[in-house]
Amino acid sequence: MSSKPSPDFTCSATWHARASQCIPLASQTFSKSSYTYPFGASPQFAAHANGSTLVDIDGNTYLDFVSGLLCISLGYADPDVNQAVKSQLDDGSIYSLPHQLETEVAERLIQYIPCAEMVRFGKNGSDATSAAIRLARAFTGRDHILVCGYHGWHDWYIGTTVRDLGVPQATQALSHTFPYNDINAVSQLFDTYQGKVAAIIMEPMNLEWPIDGYLQSIRTLCDQHQALLIFDETITGFRFHMGGAQSFFDVTPDLATFGKGMANGFPLSAIVGKKHLMSLMEDIFFSGTFGGDTIALAAAKATIDKLVSSKALAHIQQIGEYLIEQLNALIISNHLSSLFQVKGHPSWSFLSIQEGNNYPMMTIKTYILQELCSRGILSNGSHNLMYAHTKSDIENLLNAYQEILPLAYQHDQNQTLLDALHCAPLEPVFKVRG
Ligand SMILES: Cc1ncc(COP(=O)(O)O)c(C=O)c1O
Repeated sequence: MSSKPSPDFTCSATWHARASQCIPLASQTFSKSSYTYPFGASPQFAAHANGSTLVDIDGNTYLDFVSGLLCISLGYADPDVNQAVKSQLDDGSIYSLPHQLETEVAERLIQYIPCAEMVRFGKNGSDATSAAIRLARAFTGRDHILVCGYHGWHDWYIGTTVRDLGVPQATQALSHTFPYNDINAVSQLFDTYQGKVAAIIMEPMNLEWPIDGYLQSIRTLCDQHQALLIFDETITGFRFHMGGAQSFFDVTPDLATFGKGMANGFPLSAIVGKKHLMSLMEDIFFSGTFGGDTIALAAAKATIDKLVSSKALAHIQQIGEYLIEQLNALIISNHLSSLFQVKGHPSWSFLSIQEGNNYPMMTIKTYILQELCSRGILSNGSHNLMYAHTKSDIENLLNAYQEILPLAYQHDQNQTLLDALHCAPLEPVFKVRG
């Protein structure tokens, strides 16, 4: 029961050593570092990518299910988005004045997203979520925030996680987490901080589906307590539906934030919301040199138009449903349900792993990522689907799981998992989903 040999990662290792001398963590993103990709059993650097295929700096080719951490919604180097970007480049990228593309993209968001009556742009999802929090505090005159999910790197949010180094205690004391699908927990927080809660900010869904009436009850509680409801749609936007999860679940928040897939990998985020709230943005200081960057805006305009014209989300939904159905069947027929489950939405599903009989969940996950990699599949444990993924890509993933999951189970039972690893087990950054 030996594991497959890993591909050659010599260049990855050399560049990792070099990068580590000048870049802490050798990466700009925790989720692209050796916290996510087991060092020695995964590539550490990309060379180039096209469609759903990524090539690492050693020349190994992968079917990519990470999709640039869900910012690739159409496909890598999409020809239509690239053409729009190239044309815009010839006219310059950023100017001393606003550009009409800002209005054109804002108009598209307003057309598709139910709560969007006005729009402001940023570069990262964290820009947009922090803007929403500041706006909610300014509008309500209250300081406390209730949070559920992941919302970026800024103090008001990251202070609620174990990665809170450098966040002032006074800031941490204003943000309170609540578990998903537990409406009583939210009620209790509103009681504890009576009259002090500015907003709830939450991912409308990640691993778990909302139980019946849950999101509606959250909406009602916010109204009863005169707090704003903010949906963080950084991932669900332009993925669950063109109108985001708020359209998909038919619950309209006061404000919502978008990023990731909106511009197919170019850096752009947005805060959108009702006019009477968003117009306060004329006084709130949310302002940046690059908010009106026309390269990302040209990419967003082309991406949004192509998501609609190609019916990309229907394709993603269809192959995503197939993946969930087949993976569930595979788990059941191999009697692996005690260790593995499939969770999430078809466009963003997860292989959920339980603690093993003999090994921690992260060690089992490390083995699975290693074995996927050695079969030409790049994964971080979720299935981040893009338009470029085909049904045959899904079949390839399923075939790999068919080999790997029973092996993982046996290694756990037989206490041979560490021997099967070509690397040290991964450590968690923190757990905020599921
Ligand atoms: C739901 C959600 N909100 C906010 C963010 C932060 O976005 P960014 O990393 O672009 O700042 C992320 C990033 O993963 C996210 O998944």
